[in-house]
Amino acid sequence: MRYALLAPIFLSLVIAVQTSVIKAWPWPWIVGARSNRIAVCDYNAPKRGLLRKREAAIADYARIILEQRDVQAAFDKYIPGEYIQHSSFFSRSGREHSIEVLIPFYTDPGLSWSNLRTFASGDGNGVFHYKLNTNGGREKGGETYAVIDIFRFKGTCIVEHWDAVQQIFGNETNPIAFF
Ligand SMILES: *[C@@H]1O[C@H](CO)[C@@H](O)[C@H](O)[C@H]1NC(C)=O
Repeated sequence: MRYALLAPIFLSLVIAVQTSVIKAWPWPWIVGARSNRIAVCDYNAPKRGLLRKREAAIADYARIILEQRDVQAAFDKYIPGEYIQHSSFFSRSGREHSIEVLIPFYTDPGLSWSNLRTFASGDGNGVFHYKLNTNGGREKGGETYAVIDIFRFKGTCIVEHWDAVQQIFGNETNPIAFF
């Protein structure tokens, strides 16, 4: 049978396919779609359900950067590329400079925060509003601030940042000043 000559070719093809399937572990067509969505934001996220995804993203970004104090992980997950920085606490735009400045800031043991709220808006912005203590906070000789951070989304990724920071002195005449 001359078709018998094709058997080794067929066999090596089967082995090649199997090998590449095994190498593709953890098999993206089974688990990848789900874990990729959790692992990194998506600049091209479809419009459907986007507001909900941005609400989840901004809350998760706040959790990673404020609670876990892991600036690198927060940026890797939600700011993997372009980043326009408007905050006056930074001397220039861009992801790398922001990471450089924020790592020592967020890992400082004198830093604490409370009263956090996060929002996302239909036009593609996300917001943190919170109370921030530096150097132990006002009661321990440091400073306390009311902070609003505004982030612009592209898909489920963050691409731009503005902030407004107001110092709390404790002598405000409004008994419910700030919070
Ligand atoms: C509160 O204290 C700050 C800092 O000492 C001062 O600049 C500000 O004018 C004071 N505000 C009021 C309402 O007294």
